[in-house]
Amino acid sequence: MNKLKVKIPATADGSYPIHIGSGTLSGIWGELEKDFPKLRKFVVTDSNLKKCGHVKTLIGDKKVCSYVIDPAGEVSKTIETVVKIVESMEKEFFGRDSMVVALGGGTVGDMAGFAAAIFKRGVKVVQIPTTTVAQADSSVGGKTGVDSTISKNAFGAFYMPEAVYIDVATLKTLDDVQYRAGLVESVKHALIADAKYFDFLEKNIQAVLDKEPAVLEKLAFWNCTIKANVVENDPTEKNMRRILNFGHTIGHAVESASNFDLLHGEAVSIGIVGAELIAQELGFGDEKRFERIKNLLESLSMPLCIPKGLDKEKIIDIIKRDKKAVDLWPNFVLIEDIGKALFRDGQWAHKVDKKLIEETLDKLTD
Ligand SMILES: NC(=O)c1ccc[n+]([C@@H]2O[C@H](COP(=O)([O-])OP(=O)(O)OC[C@H]3O[C@@H](n4cnc5c(N)ncnc54)[C@H](O)[C@@H]3O)[C@@H](O)[C@H]2O)c1
Ligand SMILES: [Zn+2]
Repeated sequence: MNKLKVKIPATADGSYPIHIGSGTLSGIWGELEKDFPKLRKFVVTDSNLKKCGHVKTLIGDKKVCSYVIDPAGEVSKTIETVVKIVESMEKEFFGRDSMVVALGGGTVGDMAGFAAAIFKRGVKVVQIPTTTVAQADSSVGGKTGVDSTISKNAFGAFYMPEAVYIDVATLKTLDDVQYRAGLVESVKHALIADAKYFDFLEKNIQAVLDKEPAVLEKLAFWNCTIKANVVENDPTEKNMRRILNFGHTIGHAVESASNFDLLHGEAVSIGIVGAELIAQELGFGDEKRFERIKNLLESLSMPLCIPKGLDKEKIIDIIKRDKKAVDLWPNFVLIEDIGKALFRDGQWAHKVDKKLIEETLDKLTD
């Protein structure tokens, strides 16, 4: 068992460890009992994790109270599900001495984290992420929440976990498209923060696609280190944390305009290409780097263009509603080089004219 540890001083008064390994899931419960002996544990997971046997691997034959989200996925990421989680805990007489154990992808982690944030004014939570999105992104950084009927993540709280346990072997059962799309967050991390990581991804892409444990552990380590550094600098997204939105402003808009036919990672892939087209127009681009980025995204079988039939006006309209918009227009994160987000005039996100965005969307539609 190969275990790495990253300490995150995510808030002024605390830090939490991220344990990274392969085939570690069966040992995590023992670690939880050892590290948090006084807390009663409640597992939140979903029907696919149960079907794949991961719940059994985690808890073995022990009698453990749990809530299994069914159907799995974004459709259940609602306040109603959180109410059910909280009320299940109440029915089992859980108190302030509880710990929520989130086993699953980003939807499970976001819901379980939010339930923990509000149950009896807040109980402890640990994250055991099982998707490429969750292992690279959602389990680290303390954002929790659920969707409203109007928008994604409308209800939410910043709520840091006590610990994160990443077992990269759980990815073996993940659907291939989900797996590849989630890796776009890794490409994003490399682009904004670490050129060596980008080189590593380029050189080892086949091993990544083959889910080789040692390589996946390295990815997890890099992803967590990069996200942790950014979150540590700016836990509540005042400025630097925005760089994690690289590729996401256009990406989110394209994702919504497709009525979520596109997976998040697929849409962010298009958004990253968009950000590079913008950078070129503003004089921060470089043809060779653009080719490298497109090649890497293509080797993950990610789209580089907006699919036919998506309405440009609708995409623009959604960009205006971006939650980070000021005066109905958001700022855009760009890179000046591979591994280096653009920082100018004290800002990590930059004003880009609406006209240039329209031209970029035209180029992306070709
Ligand atoms: N909190 C954050 O900072 C943050 C960051 C990024 C994304 N998110 C959120 O994360 C969510 C997306 O997360 P996701 O992509 O992990 O989706 P998800 O949780 O819906 O998981 C995708 C699918 O894979 C299944 N699954 C999960 N792990 C599996 C495994 N190991 N084997 C087989 N099947 C498995 C799930 O049941 C689901 O059907 C979105 O709601 C998004 O808003 C949050
Ligand atoms: Zn993302």
